[in-house]
Amino acid sequence: MVPFLDLKAQYHSIKAEIDAAVSGVLESAQFVLGPEVAAFEQEFAAYCGGVKHGIGLNSGTSALHLALLAAGVGPGDEVITVPFTFVATTAAIDYTGARAVLVDVDRKTATMDPALVEQAITPRTKAILPVHLHGQPADMDPILEIARKHNLVVIEDAAQAHGAEYKGRRCGSMGDLACFSFYPGKNLGAYGEGGAVVTSNDHYAKLIRMMRDWGQEAKYHHVVQGFNYRMEGLQGAILGVKLKYLERWTEARRAHARRYSELLDELGVETPREAPDTRHVFHVYAIRVADRAQVQQQLQAAGIGTAIHYPIPVHLQESFRHLGYQAGDFPVSERLAESVLSLPMYPEMSEEQTAEVVAAIRMVTPAFAAARFAGKHA
Ligand SMILES: Cc1ncc(COP(=O)(O)O)c(C=O)c1O
Repeated sequence: MVPFLDLKAQYHSIKAEIDAAVSGVLESAQFVLGPEVAAFEQEFAAYCGGVKHGIGLNSGTSALHLALLAAGVGPGDEVITVPFTFVATTAAIDYTGARAVLVDVDRKTATMDPALVEQAITPRTKAILPVHLHGQPADMDPILEIARKHNLVVIEDAAQAHGAEYKGRRCGSMGDLACFSFYPGKNLGAYGEGGAVVTSNDHYAKLIRMMRDWGQEAKYHHVVQGFNYRMEGLQGAILGVKLKYLERWTEARRAHARRYSELLDELGVETPREAPDTRHVFHVYAIRVADRAQVQQQLQAAGIGTAIHYPIPVHLQESFRHLGYQAGDFPVSERLAESVLSLPMYPEMSEEQTAEVVAAIRMVTPAFAAARFAGKHA
C-alpha cells in the first residue's frame, strides 16, 4: 500500500521540535502574528532568493487577493492567467472585481505559454499572473519582458513552488510580487491554513501588512480597506521549524521523481519533464494517460493512492461561466485536464514504495501502450 500523501510520517520525523515550538506558542499566548510569525516571514523571504519582505497570511488565496489589490487591480481591469490551475488563482482575480483573461499553457511544462500572452493584452490589462504549476517554474523571462514592455505588474502564483528555480533564480524572486500557500500538503505545509506574499517592493509590502490586519496603520487607525487575513502564531512557529528541512525534503522529492521517471520511461509512460535550466520541486508528479479512469481504478485496487490536479480547467467550471469561455477555447489545458494523473509523492517515501508504484503501473502497462497520451511522439 502506498498512500498518495503521508503527512503523519513527516510529523513523526520532526515531532520533538514541532511539539516544543507548539508549546512555546501556547506558553507565550502569541496566537495571532507575533514573534514566531515575524521570524518566519524573514527566513522565508530570504529562502525565496533574498526577497526583501515576507508577509505571513492565513492562506495562499488571501496572498493572491492582497497581491492583486496592492498592485492596484480592481473593477474594470484585466489580469492574464491560465485555465490549467487550481481555482483559487482566478477566484482571487474575481474577488477584486477584475476579469481573468485566460491564455493556454505550454504542452510540455503545463505552465503559461508566453507566445500567447501579448495577443491577450488590452488597454485594461493590469497584471500577468503565471502559475508555477506542480512545482515547475513558468517560463518567466519572456513573460517578464512582455510585462516590462507593456508596463504590467507580474504576480507569481508560487503556491506549489517553494524552492523551485528558473535560470538560477528562485520562484518568488522574479515577479513584482509572489504568492505562496502553506496548505498542509504543500511542499512547505502548515498544520492548518497558511500563506504568504513575498516582494521586494516597500510600498506593496506596507500595503499588504495593513490590509491583512484590517487596514490598520496603527491600532484602531484604519487607513485602507482591510481584511482578517493574519497568520496564526502556531503556524508561524511550525513553519519556522519545517523551513529548516525544506531543502532536504525537496531533494528527496527530486530523487523520487528521477527514480519514477527512469523506471516509467522504460514502460513508455509519459512522465513530467523538468524544463532546461530549471529546478522542478515536484509538489505534484503527474504522468499523462489517455484512459485515466481505468488506470486510476486499477492502481487503487493495487493499493496505490493517486489524485488529479486538476480534472476540469477553470474556463469549464460552472462558477467561471461568467468569463464567457467555452469548450475548445484552450485545447492544451483541456487535454491535460483529461489525462494527468498524480502519483504518490512526499519526501518520506522509501525506494521500495516508488518501486511498488512502478510495479503496479507495470501491471496496467498494456493499457498505457494501447492508449498513450496522443501526440507524445508528434
Ligand atoms: C496554484 C494554487 N494557487 C493558489 C492556491 C491557494 O492556496 P490556499 O489553499 O492556501 O488558499 C493553491 C492551493 O491549493 C494552488 O495550488
